[in-house]
Amino acid sequence: MAPVPNNGTVAVTGAAGFIGGWIVRLLLDRGFRVRACVRNVDDDSRTGFLRAMPGYASGRLTLHAADLDNEGCFDDIFPGCHGVCHVSHVSDYDDQDYVRRVCEHIIRSVNQSGSVNRVVVTSSIAAVISEADIHEVVRRPVFYEDRYPDEQNPKRTPARGQGYSMGKVLAQRIFAEAAARHGGWDAITVCPADNVGPIQSAHQKDMGPWQHNIESMLLGKYYQNGAYRPWMTVDVRDDAACHIGVLCSTEVSNGERYIAWSTDVRRVEDICADINRLLPELRHATPEVTDPFPERIREREQELRGVWAKAELRNDRIRQLLGIEFRPLDDSIRDCVESLLSVGGVEPVRRDN
Ligand SMILES: NC(=O)c1ccc[n+]([C@@H]2O[C@H](COP(=O)([O-])OP(=O)(O)OC[C@H]3O[C@@H](n4cnc5c(N)ncnc54)[C@H](OP(=O)(O)O)[C@@H]3O)[C@@H](O)[C@H]2O)c1
Repeated sequence: MAPVPNNGTVAVTGAAGFIGGWIVRLLLDRGFRVRACVRNVDDDSRTGFLRAMPGYASGRLTLHAADLDNEGCFDDIFPGCHGVCHVSHVSDYDDQDYVRRVCEHIIRSVNQSGSVNRVVVTSSIAAVISEADIHEVVRRPVFYEDRYPDEQNPKRTPARGQGYSMGKVLAQRIFAEAAARHGGWDAITVCPADNVGPIQSAHQKDMGPWQHNIESMLLGKYYQNGAYRPWMTVDVRDDAACHIGVLCSTEVSNGERYIAWSTDVRRVEDICADINRLLPELRHATPEVTDPFPERIREREQELRGVWAKAELRNDRIRQLLGIEFRPLDDSIRDCVESLLSVGGVEPVRRDN
């Protein structure tokens, strides 16, 4: 399938979001025309940073209102676009029928567009690593593109916290099947890891979750997360570069997926301490990490940490495809903190000395 040409036109869903906002910026930097899709064009607190981008002044960047929940929402936006980056969240991952329905909304608009060659679908590493039974991580500890969660496990249900992972796998398949049926476009999936890096607009500090977690650390509170899973990260700017690389590649095929992560791994308590290590001038009062887990999880802390420590993160596929060098996590933490202060207006808790 023909990829998106240089200077081509790309629609981005979730353009006001953390990742979507960086995809928009990088697309503009590389000469593309961008149709940024947001739910409320008039909400300046969420879209002001897009309007402030130089491409908006010339008209190379345009803003469009679209709520995925409404059928036909992209019918007037996609015609003339060569590619679509479908980055946005959906309103409810636990309802798989709803996930299917909103995918169909996008697919119908792509099919009708007469111009879209490629859709990049933003999934998640949750569609690679999330397990209803942690022992499955012990059994299959290599995390790469062909690893899927154990879908036969009867505990893999939304009620047991697997809705997000299930919804992401479902969306990937729906898009690939629809593209194969249509024959005029292809669908490639990107599975981003835990995104860390600079926010571009104050509202993004409350989203994330990872930049919001760093905000909480700056404000002096932090709770252990993910049953002691360490952060497995990618810089949000590198994640955006992966999306654009896949959008333009001549080497990808319908249905493939690419994990976007640097393979850096860090425990939450180390991230809290890193703020002070990386920016001693800030005199950040490093918070104690509070453990909110019930006793039965806390009793297994060493075992669970041990399971994650043996996980092997691979990014061979995206590196081979794009030749990308991922930023070190230290740079992402530093830039995230500085943006939270300068863009987000966060006032960190500081030590006296
Ligand atoms: N952040 C991460 O670490 C991470 C990791 C793995 C995967 N991902 C995936 O990456 C994507 C973007 O994540 P993010 O962190 O950038 O999220 P985010 O900052 O929360 O932005 C998501 C955007 O989704 C839009 N949205 C939500 N429901 C919508 C609907 N019904 N119709 C249209 N737009 C809707 C919102 O648009 P409006 O602002 O216009 O309301 C929001 O700006 C998601 O698909 C997420 O699952 C993220």
